[in-house]
Amino acid sequence: MTGRFITFEGIDGAGKSSQIGRVADHLRERGASLVQTREPGGTALAESLRALFLHQEMDGLTEALLVFAARRDHLQRVIAPALALGQTVLCDRFTDASFAYQGGGRGMDWQVLSTLAGWVQQGREPDLTFWFDVDPRVAAERRAQAREADRLEQQDLDFFSRVRAAYARRAEEAPMRVVRIDASLSLEGVGQQVLQALADRGW
Ligand code: TYD
Repeated sequence: MTGRFITFEGIDGAGKSSQIGRVADHLRERGASLVQTREPGGTALAESLRALFLHQEMDGLTEALLVFAARRDHLQRVIAPALALGQTVLCDRFTDASFAYQGGGRGMDWQVLSTLAGWVQQGREPDLTFWFDVDPRVAAERRAQAREADRLEQQDLDFFSRVRAAYARRAEEAPMRVVRIDASLSLEGVGQQVLQALADRGW
């Protein structure tokens, strides 16, 4: 039996992180064995690449190559083995983030990203993706109240509007996989939508 692969996406400040814990609690109560991880990251190599990625200036193609290199290592060492054991993998961001940030945000060619995704993933896709969608202005207010911003979080509203539009395009391209969550609501309201999407699948 292969496990379920669930990913969590959205612009910085959409509030996805607090919902991952909620999904984890729900699935654990229902007996699932969970692996919680994140991208870029999830292995020693990928975490090293994450540190470079978050704190050094680089062009869009270099960003894309780094995040896909990290993803390759993560898939091979953590995600694929866990799924093969029947475990449920909850991953904070995955390939949709590369299309959104490097594609939408940095203007990288969609086709180049698709090619990289094909090489790295070999057809492996998440079974379900939660896209926490919120107006970039609301997200900026939330970020301002949170901790110190990293390199990507310091981008302007225009950047995050393009990232959001690219997420919308990914959702349109894979309507069965991507569930849009209205992340402008309260923590409780957002959580209810998430649990409903799981219930719809009998999870
Ligand atoms: P994030 O999950 O926001 O980490 P944290 O909540 O700890 O800040 O991810 C870090 C950043 O990486 C975020 O701004 C989005 C960016 N990112 C990309 O640009 N491309 C990618 O492929 C991934 C996975 C993330």
